[in-house]
Amino acid sequence: MKKLLTAVFLAATALGGAAHAAEIAVAANSTGKNLDFLRAVFAEFEEKTGHKVSLVTMPPSSSEQFAQYRLWLAAGNKDVDVYQTDVIWAPQLAEQFVDLKDAASDVIDQFFPSIIQSQTVDGRLVAMPMFTDAPALYYRKDLLEKHGKELPKTWEDLAQVAEEIQAKEREGGQGDMWGFVFQGNAYEGLTCNALEWIKSSGGGQIVEPDGTISVNNEKAILALEQAKTWIGTISPPGVLAYQEEEARGVWQTGNAVFMRNWPYAYALGNGDDSAVKGKFDVTTLPVAAAGDKPSSTLGGWNLAVSKYSDEQEASIELVKFLSSPEVQKRRAIELSNLPTLQALYDDPDVAKAQPFMPQWKPIFQDAVPRPSAVTKVKYNEVSSRFWGAVHNTLSGTGSAAENLELLEIELNELMGNGW
Ligand code: GLC
Repeated sequence: MKKLLTAVFLAATALGGAAHAAEIAVAANSTGKNLDFLRAVFAEFEEKTGHKVSLVTMPPSSSEQFAQYRLWLAAGNKDVDVYQTDVIWAPQLAEQFVDLKDAASDVIDQFFPSIIQSQTVDGRLVAMPMFTDAPALYYRKDLLEKHGKELPKTWEDLAQVAEEIQAKEREGGQGDMWGFVFQGNAYEGLTCNALEWIKSSGGGQIVEPDGTISVNNEKAILALEQAKTWIGTISPPGVLAYQEEEARGVWQTGNAVFMRNWPYAYALGNGDDSAVKGKFDVTTLPVAAAGDKPSSTLGGWNLAVSKYSDEQEASIELVKFLSSPEVQKRRAIELSNLPTLQALYDDPDVAKAQPFMPQWKPIFQDAVPRPSAVTKVKYNEVSSRFWGAVHNTLSGTGSAAENLELLEIELNELMGNGW
């Protein structure tokens, strides 16, 4: 019997089929067309390997996704084999994921070392980088031209140009036009937006890489007070509930002059069903004063294999496939997600499909990381206190000075004797 099984196994392997057909479940985020894309590439993987892959659909909010993952992993859930993970989670979830270092040793040199570093915890590679992220200022070329305006360099310029064009467009009959949309909901996305306002104003990065809590400072206070003036003037009051997809919705129906969003909105904005197709471009986010360095928050998504999975080998094969040059190239072309592989930034097909992309390499390489490496397992708590303080300020519950003073006290308590 054993001999017969061995013969069948050898025959299957010789034919290129899988020795064991595994069923793999992947939890993935539903922003933009991510799920459609994954379904299409899963079909290719199934064809190649004989394994079966299913999707566990997660909400688009990174924060909600994290809360759910944490519950599943704490319970040793075996129903999910592969998790799509946000760049900030590696230190918090490291122990629940398989070390991919050996499995990835043949391909690791092709990735940006800094991204590999961000997913390495205590020498273990806890997730394979699938795409990286650094936001852009999306702007309507046609409207700037029509109203004779230059591209804004500072946040103040942005507010002025946004206000003027919004007013003129409304006078001209575009009653739903807004100047600027971004992510103002109380969640991880607001942490990213507010970090950009503060960092680009010289106000630090909440908690500095050496662990110092820096957020309660004059420049940070001014940056938040300035953002507050946008609510209900150049940004709809509803922006306080917007995540990425809501901002994109307003933008893509042609009702915003400027938008802060991640690169995924580029391909979608140029889709056939988009009212802004061919009418926009992207540039770096504004700064506080001319000459300051623009600051984009570093984002990105990875793939981790659960320690509780019964199909670790097949799952590792899948995450290697999903982060391979072939799939990342397709992802860059179809979804305008930024590759984590260095060579794709020189790929002519990628540059042709997404002309902004070669330009985005220095921007993401220079992007500001959130303080997840330094605050380790406490990052989620740090971030949620921070976005809470920012959301309160934007919605008029306390001034920026009051909220940041309180936040500093809370963060000190959280830190205790060290992070
Ligand atoms: C994007 C980024 C991710 C970030 C999230 C916030 O998806 O890639 O890192 O946490 O936005 O909303």
